[in-house]
Amino acid sequence: MPRIKTIGILTSGGDAPGMNAAIRAVTRAGIFNGFSIKGIFRGFEGLVSNEMKPFTTENVSGIIGQGGTILKTARSKSFLTVEGRQKAYENLVKESIDALVVIGGNGSLTGAMKFGEEFDFCCIGLPGTIDNDLYGTDNTIGYDTTMNTIMECVDRIRDTAQSHERIFFVEVMGRDAGFLAQNSAIASGAEAAIIPEDSTDVDQLARFMERGIRKSKKSCIVIVSESKKCGAMYYAERVRKEFPDYDVRVSILGHLQRGGRPSARDRILASCTGVGAIEAIMQGQRNIMVGVRNNEVVYVPLSEAIRPDKPIDKKLIQVLDELSI
Ligand code: F6P
Repeated sequence: MPRIKTIGILTSGGDAPGMNAAIRAVTRAGIFNGFSIKGIFRGFEGLVSNEMKPFTTENVSGIIGQGGTILKTARSKSFLTVEGRQKAYENLVKESIDALVVIGGNGSLTGAMKFGEEFDFCCIGLPGTIDNDLYGTDNTIGYDTTMNTIMECVDRIRDTAQSHERIFFVEVMGRDAGFLAQNSAIASGAEAAIIPEDSTDVDQLARFMERGIRKSKKSCIVIVSESKKCGAMYYAERVRKEFPDYDVRVSILGHLQRGGRPSARDRILASCTGVGAIEAIMQGQRNIMVGVRNNEVVYVPLSEAIRPDKPIDKKLIQVLDELSI
């Protein structure tokens, strides 16, 4: 295997608070250990169109506390094609980049794995997504900040819900994963969470209404994971039909959940996994994601990290149920 001298770094998919801290960590740890670093702009799109520039420590100074990503991001369509990936490979060779650090979620790490396999290229993933849906790491970069943002929003919604004695359905992000909904519901004292992981055998709304929530409380908040078919609007409509005397409102938090200054936890996670990425390269690792499990930096094969069924701890469902009476 040829010695790695230059490392390319990119952010891809939905931006997440803490991505800048990860860019900073990879750049600084890389330079500290004698590598050259190149920043690649607009995710895989910038690989295909050759938008790259050398990064020094100055390029990443003062960014640890900024949300978003200074490298920009994209959900690249061209990288999904064989021709696009071939072009990306040629650009990497042209720029003398020997290894790639990809900061992103499930789709981005799937792209990195495919590329690594196709071109026998060293790809290292960092878990950068608010969704927390990557296997093999306890948390993903951005998840903690977003959960805190949701909690603050729900605290505010509760003020108006209580004043008007209303039922609020609050829709949160998470794509096909309920981590944000379940844990922000616990953190904000919501009465229920409706999550994709719990929807196979029971009607979650019926279960919640059967508990007679309005007998003991005049207002309540239900956090709903976003979903194409049955998001907060769907559940609100059902309650309006089935319980016409209830005063129901919907609040879809949307993209405000992705912005803002990263929490200390996300900055630390990004910093540790960024340093871990450089260590992985020095050890000759490839096609792995750097995660943190039980406070230890771990290397997880990309094929495992992208498994679609990271489970929600069933105890968390019980905790919410017991505390919402
Ligand atoms: O993957 C992160 C995420 O914020 C998901 O929770 C959400 O479903 C999706 O991105 C939204 O993507 P976009 O910003 O492209 O609409």
